Amino acid sequence: MSRPVTRVLFVCLGNICRSPLAEGIFRHKVNERGVDHLFVIDSAGTGGWHAGNLADARMRRVAAQKGVALESRARQVHEEDYRSFDHILCMDESNHQDLIAMGAPAARLRLLLACDPNAPLEEVPDPYYGDDDGFERVFGLVDSACSALLDELLGAPG
Ligand code: 4NP
Repeated sequence: MSRPVTRVLFVCLGNICRSPLAEGIFRHKVNERGVDHLFVIDSAGTGGWHAGNLADARMRRVAAQKGVALESRARQVHEEDYRSFDHILCMDESNHQDLIAMGAPAARLRLLLACDPNAPLEEVPDPYYGDDDGFERVFGLVDSACSALLDELLGAPG
């Protein structure tokens, strides 16, 4: 019996730091495990200011140092996403509340770090206005949570 495709969307505010990182890391792990055919993976921002842009150069540099290429272009989340994605992973509570306010079904929404029982924080901090250490820290948080999410999704059929 073939397994259905699982559609996973990562959401942050600008779609240039945290959610493109989560998309890139999750895609990398899916590829390493040889399960690309089981997933559709994307990311989006609740805001549209950076639409069309590559991820922030600082985020791309940190990811590249760890072997993860970030190639997505920013886009704003839209209504169709609520219907088409099975799992919508929010980087922080503000993204989560914004999506609820836009009409997204609560049952499909989760904070990304809630997937990781060992996460030291509940939210992925926004690194945009901080220094390089913030980007490094965000990488570690997102990497660990994406491993836990992938284990969960591969463990549970459908
Ligand atoms: P992100 O970070 O939500 O992780 O992509 C941000 C990027 C840009 C802005 C805020 C957060 N901004 O205000 O332009």
